[in-house]
Amino acid sequence: MPCFDSAVEAIHQKGYFVGEQFWPASEALAMTAACQELKRQERFRPARIGRAQEKQRHEAIRSDLICWLDSDLPAPLQHYLDALEAYRQQVNRELLLGLDHVEVHAAYYPPGAHYGRHLDRHRDDDARTLTAILYLNPDWQAEDGGLLSIDLPDGSQATVLPRLGTFVSFLSAEFPHEVLPTRRDRLTLTGWYRRRGSPF
Ligand code: OGA
Ligand code: MN
Repeated sequence: MPCFDSAVEAIHQKGYFVGEQFWPASEALAMTAACQELKRQERFRPARIGRAQEKQRHEAIRSDLICWLDSDLPAPLQHYLDALEAYRQQVNRELLLGLDHVEVHAAYYPPGAHYGRHLDRHRDDDARTLTAILYLNPDWQAEDGGLLSIDLPDGSQATVLPRLGTFVSFLSAEFPHEVLPTRRDRLTLTGWYRRRGSPF
């Protein structure tokens, strides 16, 4: 499990954090293998946009496949959830964000997939507070595409290659972002911490 001090400090200072080679490579590689096994078991489903009745497949916006991480997880993915719990506790202790729990899915972007610009906080549900993403792709090159591009308040963008071990976290309501089309299979673990007091 990594030390989260630099992430918590960056969230405090500027609201977002990008850490390359942040996660121990051996742990991240074990997570990659575990996700590939879930994929072989056909546990990924087309992602949907929005909530409840509005949910619909909308490939013009989002074309990844997801697998929610809940029960019955292989050890490396359970270990990731344990690490996210440690991050949650540290963020609550140091930044008083009142995060209650995290919801996490693995996402698989096949070649050509993308996710258009969006905010992680839904219009009708303001509980999502902090986003945390871990990338699981060894040997990723710039020409493979699949960049995460985050809009910053000064009008510039932070761009992130989805390389093995890169960890990204940001305040869910404040940073519009998009995933540019990928040319290779692209695997991520994406989580959202929700605040207390939400009915969901
Ligand atoms: C998301 C998302 C970013 C990425 O799933 O909401 O923005 O880089 N993912 O996969
Ligand atoms: Mn997002």
